[in-house]
Amino acid sequence: MSDVVLITGVSGQDGSYLAEYTAARGARVIGTTRDLGATPRLPGTLSTAIELVEWDLMDKHHFSTILDRYRPTKVYNFAAFSSGEHMDLNPEAVIEINGLAVIKMLDAIKLSGAPVRFCQASSSEVFAGTGISPQSEATPRVPRSVYGAAKILADNTIKLYREKYGLFCCSAFLFNHESPRRGEGFVTKKVVRAAVQIKAGRQKKISLGNLSAARDWGFAGDYVRAMALMLKAAVPTDYVVATGVAHTVANLCERAFGALSLNYRDYVEVNPAFFRPTEAAPIVGDASRVRQELGWEPTTSFVELVEMMVDAELRADRASD
Ligand code: GDD
Repeated sequence: MSDVVLITGVSGQDGSYLAEYTAARGARVIGTTRDLGATPRLPGTLSTAIELVEWDLMDKHHFSTILDRYRPTKVYNFAAFSSGEHMDLNPEAVIEINGLAVIKMLDAIKLSGAPVRFCQASSSEVFAGTGISPQSEATPRVPRSVYGAAKILADNTIKLYREKYGLFCCSAFLFNHESPRRGEGFVTKKVVRAAVQIKAGRQKKISLGNLSAARDWGFAGDYVRAMALMLKAAVPTDYVVATGVAHTVANLCERAFGALSLNYRDYVEVNPAFFRPTEAAPIVGDASRVRQELGWEPTTSFVELVEMMVDAELRADRASD
């Protein structure tokens, strides 16, 4: 029987990569969206490869009817507030969408009695306050934002439904993962876009926060592949998905501007308005478990990732001329 894959947040970076990955492997792909009329254009050939269905994440009853109608074999949840800059704004909405909506989905799956496999896009933000580095599946979860607290609520419920009700459900603790499809609120896209604009003579400077902030940045296409492996595995298990290598925002600038033969020091200004509280310890993932148990490997290095983003930005910029 071929897979029927249901993806929430399908128009976002991760949802679109996973939709491409699963559609290319013969799955019927259903993508949910809150408002069909307002759904952004899907990248590449996706608009013809997937079926879109309207669904408000807080409507559990409607999710049950979607399960009945499409009978998905796998559900991937990417629908969430994801912007790092706004992790504590509107805390009730963040808890509802990043936490409570996941519980509604799990419970609807449980009530349906169908053998649906569920994978949650969790986050390294659940480790932000631990003070232990690198972080693995065994690291205590200590949030430093409402966003992290909501993800932990979802992760704990997933574990509970797995252990108490036997659901095949798991969380992927995704460390930062980027691509040309990244939104502009994220530092990688912000830097790459500014570098291309500066090279073209349309912008003079870029203001950033803490240049010493370090992140474990990987390629989103690699990370959704890890999640697909998790739902193919014999048993449901939570995994850290990361490269294991941290780079600073300054390294990112150096690579992005360097790819355009520019020296970032000539263009970058530091603005305290973009500073965030520093983490208790560097955010770097130890992904040994997913490597050993599922044979996952990231295929794209940090340098290749930044170059890929710069190339895509240059192409988009030329196309818009
Ligand atoms: N956005 C932004 N803008 N970040 C900046 C800037 C700036 O001008 N200057 C420095 N930074 C630093 C931030 O302080 C942070 O340390 C790092 O760049 C990355 O910030 P983001 O790209 O905004 O991502 P994030 O780490 O906050 O959140 C992302 O990764 C999480 C996984 O760890 C998001 O994808 C989250 O949804 C995800 O859970």
